[in-house]
Amino acid sequence: MQRLPDTPIPTYLVESQASANAHLADELSALLKERPRDLILGLATGSSPVGLYAELVRRFEEDWIDFSFVKTFNLDEYRGLPSGHPTSYRTFMAEHLFSKVNLGPRNTHLPPTKAEDLDAACQAWEEEIQATGGIDWQLLGVGRNGHIGFNEPGSAFDSRTRKVELAESTREANARFFDSGDEVPTEAVTMGIGTILEAKRVRVLAFGPTKADVLARVLRGEDDESIPLNALRRHPDAALFIDEAAAAGLRG
Ligand code: F6R
Repeated sequence: MQRLPDTPIPTYLVESQASANAHLADELSALLKERPRDLILGLATGSSPVGLYAELVRRFEEDWIDFSFVKTFNLDEYRGLPSGHPTSYRTFMAEHLFSKVNLGPRNTHLPPTKAEDLDAACQAWEEEIQATGGIDWQLLGVGRNGHIGFNEPGSAFDSRTRKVELAESTREANARFFDSGDEVPTEAVTMGIGTILEAKRVRVLAFGPTKADVLARVLRGEDDESIPLNALRRHPDAALFIDEAAAAGLRG
């Protein structure tokens, strides 16, 4: 793993996704040992964290780590999918992590999507995060348009948890998880960029050629507030872990 020089957000080039996953699993394992009773994690869905979750499951099965007292808050959830829908983010988390480790349903939180007064429910959800003491370690992927969570380009850097419309490029990118592109919801509820910036540590995984363009724009470009990932320039302990293909636009 190599730290890239002169990047506005600390960035590590990894030789493989497995090496990024092992590094983050080591960091989390150490945190779990230090704070076994009150660690709060912010979690992401999508392709980027799948290998990390598998590594955490492996360590749990081998008795290295224990999630009994961990609480988790996920970044986002689609709106308009029935409970238990196969592509809801609750289902994704159950399949990749929650049902495979000792994380009970009372300790896992996804943003509210069904409340009649959604604004009030989003505010209550934020208050719940704060009541736990706040997120210690936040995992992110990044959209090919630079979104974090479902904060699409143009989202305010001080935005909070709220209902959002998904960008067409995001719906297209996520169509692979649905039977047809038409089924991808048009709305979601996401943690805000301001909410994400309050996490004590933020770790971003970005793999593959579809992330190369936006990473070049963020890591070699000006501080442009229309790209949500740039918000992490303002975070004191954020780091990106990117593979060769995602780093392709950084040469020269
Ligand atoms: C998922 C999320 C999104 C994804 C991003 C990258 O909870 O918040 O921001 O992290 O769209 O998705 P993948 O990892 O599928 O490339």
